[in-house]
Amino acid sequence: MHDGLLGIENLNRGDVQSILDRARDFQPRPGGPAKLDLLRGRMVVNLFFEASTRTRTSFEIAAKRLGADTISITAQGSSVSKGESLVDTLNTLAAMRPDAIVMRHYASGAPHFLQRYLGKPIINAGDGTHEHPTQALLDARTILDRGASLEKLRVAIIGDIEHSRVARSNVYLLSKFGADIVLCGPASLLPKELKEITPGITLTTDMREAIRDADVIMMLRVQLERQNDSPFPSDEYYSFYGLRLEHLELAKPNVIVMHPGPINRGREISSEVADSQRSVILNQVENGIAVRMAVLEKVLCG
Ligand code: NCD
Repeated sequence: MHDGLLGIENLNRGDVQSILDRARDFQPRPGGPAKLDLLRGRMVVNLFFEASTRTRTSFEIAAKRLGADTISITAQGSSVSKGESLVDTLNTLAAMRPDAIVMRHYASGAPHFLQRYLGKPIINAGDGTHEHPTQALLDARTILDRGASLEKLRVAIIGDIEHSRVARSNVYLLSKFGADIVLCGPASLLPKELKEITPGITLTTDMREAIRDADVIMMLRVQLERQNDSPFPSDEYYSFYGLRLEHLELAKPNVIVMHPGPINRGREISSEVADSQRSVILNQVENGIAVRMAVLEKVLCG
């Protein structure tokens, strides 16, 4: 991974497993070191062209915990907002000689372009509707922490699948381990091509059918920022696709509820479910740091 991490699709199962195993070493434990110096003297630039709370801060914390120097650049606070082109922004950054760049961009494929253009290790922190590899890795770490194995696990991914890079990266990761994946949402938000590229996944518009016997329910936000026109009446969405306590009874008794955040209470998930014992949403956030430490270490130290 010396050229970075652009997606899950092209990783093999062994690569994924080794990141997940290493992430466990970085999970906080009593008496464990607050800071390591594995990346001392290295510089990591976070370049975010889209809003982010969890991903940006956890990459920053992860790099700092490994002893690296970090700087974060967001489109709103940079010269991008003054009309600078992507190529000029990239040349400026390259002149500062970073060791790796973490990039989030609204265009699918932007980090791939950056990697070809700069020849530096790039870590994709979400590109358009394409991939969000570290999210899928932290989701897998969170599932494994509950003692579950990914093989034969029944995972229902529910919501705006069409626009979700989180769904795509999770489909790639979970299918490498033989999980049984059901994708569910309104027909207009269910991309048929995912079924073609990943045999064995099921698509349904019926939320109850998706949840029946699920071990994991992964909810997604409706990504209005990526929709040109409204593909369904928004006031009806919650009644068809909002996760409520009564749905959990259809799932396996020890089902876990996940969500990459930001959550919209009363839109895709009820507060009772988001705050319930079954919710692992904050465990996902916590694992974001450990997983991103493992990725940064792999990319920068081999
Ligand atoms: C996701 C993203 O940006 O793709 N969020 C995240 O990284 N935690 C999902 C979303 O924005 O809905």
